[in-house]
Amino acid sequence: KMIKLSAYRLPDYLIEETHLTFELHESYALVHARLVMQRNPSLDTHLPPLVLDGQKLELIDINLNGERLSAMEYTVTDKHLTLQPTTIEFELDTTVRIEPQNNTELEGLYKSSGMFCTQCEAEGFRKITYYLDRPDVMSRFTTTIFADKQNYPILLSNGNPIAQGEDDDGRHWVTWEDPFKKPAYLFAVVAGDLWCVEDTFTTMSGREVALRIYVEPENIDKCQHAMNSLKKCMRWDEEKYGREYDLDIFMVVAVNDFNMGAMENKGLNIFNSSCVLAKAETATDAAHQRVESIVAHEYFHNWSGNRVTCRDWFQLSLKEGFTVFRDTQFSADMNSDVVKRIEDVSYLRTHQFAEDAGPMAHPVRPAEYMEISNFYTLTIYEKGAEVVRMLHTLLGEAVFRQGADLYFERHDGQAVTCDDFIAAMETVSGMDLTQFKLWYSQAGTPRLVITDSYDAATQTYCLQVKQSCPDTPDQTDKKPFVIPLRMALLSQQGQSLPLQLQGESIAMKGERVLAVTEAEQSFIFQKVTEQPLPSLLRSFSAPVIMEYNYSRDDLVFLLQHDTDGFNRWEAGQQLSLQVIEDVVGQLYETDEPMMDSRLVEVFTALLAQDDLDPAMLAEFLSLPSTGYIIEQYEQADPLAIHQAREYVSNQLAYALKEPMRVRYDALRKTSLETPYVAQASDIARRRLQNMLLAYLMRTNDLDILDECVDQFGVADNMTERLAALACLVNSPFTDEAQEALKRFAERFSEDPIVMDQWFSVQAAAVVPSGLERVTHLLEHPAFSIKNPNKVRAVIGAFSMQNTPNFHAEDGSGYAFLADKVIELDALNPQIAARIISPLTRWQRYDLHHQELMLVQLKRIKNSGELSADLFEVLEKSLVA
Ligand code: ARG
Ligand code: ZN
Repeated sequence: KMIKLSAYRLPDYLIEETHLTFELHESYALVHARLVMQRNPSLDTHLPPLVLDGQKLELIDINLNGERLSAMEYTVTDKHLTLQPTTIEFELDTTVRIEPQNNTELEGLYKSSGMFCTQCEAEGFRKITYYLDRPDVMSRFTTTIFADKQNYPILLSNGNPIAQGEDDDGRHWVTWEDPFKKPAYLFAVVAGDLWCVEDTFTTMSGREVALRIYVEPENIDKCQHAMNSLKKCMRWDEEKYGREYDLDIFMVVAVNDFNMGAMENKGLNIFNSSCVLAKAETATDAAHQRVESIVAHEYFHNWSGNRVTCRDWFQLSLKEGFTVFRDTQFSADMNSDVVKRIEDVSYLRTHQFAEDAGPMAHPVRPAEYMEISNFYTLTIYEKGAEVVRMLHTLLGEAVFRQGADLYFERHDGQAVTCDDFIAAMETVSGMDLTQFKLWYSQAGTPRLVITDSYDAATQTYCLQVKQSCPDTPDQTDKKPFVIPLRMALLSQQGQSLPLQLQGESIAMKGERVLAVTEAEQSFIFQKVTEQPLPSLLRSFSAPVIMEYNYSRDDLVFLLQHDTDGFNRWEAGQQLSLQVIEDVVGQLYETDEPMMDSRLVEVFTALLAQDDLDPAMLAEFLSLPSTGYIIEQYEQADPLAIHQAREYVSNQLAYALKEPMRVRYDALRKTSLETPYVAQASDIARRRLQNMLLAYLMRTNDLDILDECVDQFGVADNMTERLAALACLVNSPFTDEAQEALKRFAERFSEDPIVMDQWFSVQAAAVVPSGLERVTHLLEHPAFSIKNPNKVRAVIGAFSMQNTPNFHAEDGSGYAFLADKVIELDALNPQIAARIISPLTRWQRYDLHHQELMLVQLKRIKNSGELSADLFEVLEKSLVA
């Protein structure tokens, strides 16, 4: 059951050419595959049995070198087709029958809203035809699709269309040819009644590329943002990485039923419709930014993933970590870089750190897995991107770029490993990255404990750094990592002091990056003229938990004066966290805890500062999320933490009501006067405006209620409308909330993506009777358990965002989630194995909650036959 990295072997056979024919019908599809194969020339000439992958296929016909094989000449199991080749080169022809219309796993070939589409990564191609379904088998594909012309006028696959025709029976066909060799996971077909928005892009060498975004007809007015994003990221990849697009046509298709965000199939990216469609009236600013970054992510894969692909799935972060790093750089360039970094770090620390501390913890390059779908994780993606970011920090922009160039040049057309990526970086930098590579093999979040001392007499300042990494499943006694520590020393006026380490002859101005490489290490600075305040781990230069004992006054100072925007925010987060933690402790004793007044004072000062970027102000004013606070405890009491966070938010709202109101009114006025544009400065304004509204609504002031209802009603965009709706739904004004929900549903009932937001706002509402509401939502006609977006909007939002209701003392929230996991596992194992994750984090909670969660985990385990996906997650959670 366990697949191990150490067991990797070269493929016995290669597939030079893959010629596929799809005959699509309403109740079945036939797939013919003609594979031009050979014994792997890197191996000897003896001919072992050929073992092809194949699942849920009905074999109709099989021919080897044109001769039909008798039943004696091959064996079929539920996972494989095995036969004995007799020549070094041979041709294998198979025909299989599948039922896309009954495929609820959304892997392989399936139907979604009347169209046929595919998802092959990681191992979905084996549900389409018998094949060597592994990324190091790369082949040239041609694909012919036959389907009814009326219902499926558009027939797409990878590469360029080379032929088409019509049959007498109302059916038609198109043949596509992809000139680039690719692994099967990058294969795609689409057939449907689709419209498209078209544009062109002229590449840096002057070639014209046709760009097409295919959607269902009713969505044709929601493609422009994705198209603009596509053109921007194509240009950006040329300018920043020298990467040019390589086919004559680049297509994007939006489908409603999709397990993940999107998929980078060669020349034919397939997207979850929620990650492509966006216009002002229906998509929030955050959704617009998500579309921009995911379009870029999938496009960037054309080089980091497709031209250079992975040898095996243990190397997944080779393409995903690097591509996430590239898309974050792109988003930072298109928007505000500091805000983007704050968002990414918040997400990483809340979710990836939790994964790294939980039963599913694994290295960026895992050593083993049962089900690869379970390893499309925050560790592979987000921590993997942080690892690439650290390389970028250590090598510097220019050398990093040379390394990327060399990597693409050396390995174009190959399936390679994380070591190959590092080797390219070593070649260009001359550095030995052996120790750095521990980031790929050791799981867990490292801790940095930093202390300091200053000696005025000798003007020396010493930073003492200790690093450690907690044990994770199967890993103890970890070796020290290479940790880039970006830092500065601030004077009492907030100026950066010169930085001159002992033994150096000149001082560096501003900031510098220290390379922490040992378990304990000291950095001694000379000619330090005053006791400095250190600004550490600037821009979050490594994915670690850092401790330095700042006083609260230091934190206030840093929030106001640090020259690193990220660290300003970070200081505010630490201060808020401490203030909330104070309240958590007091809540067991009293209903009226004392709150440190410094938080109100510094927020007041920030609000009064006119020259502060509204985007930054909004970040500074937002308290750490409940999820993040929970992560700070060994054993968290989720209800007390929620209550404390609410208490602090309410206190802030009452104390800052006047200045917040003045600022809100001014921002709202501008919004009313300005037509919607999804650009950084306007996004910042709306974000601050909505954040202030949320605070103000906490004061239960009727005048503000009117404002909120008004903003809900008159907004010309979803960002303002949805924020107002969320305020109403979380308020005690239930009549207004019900009225708004009703109007919203009437207006948007035909738009499933907008309805997802309507669902999740309610599922996440932290007001009483949450479970009742959620159970009710499941009965709504717009809900479907078969649609992953709906599952995430209702069940996901409830269990990940609705702390007081999900963690209810009686365990009802947990029992609800367990019921849904069991139900989903029979339909869509990938989604079941994901949606269960809040329960797998049981060890993070107090004993009462632990016990309630364990009861449900065991109940799921004993509920009957489980998918491999869910089995792996449950096993690991219950062993821990
Ligand atoms: N490669 C895709 C992306 O990150 C994700 C595909 C995920 N597929 C899966 N079965 N988990 O862009
Ligand atoms: Zn990706």
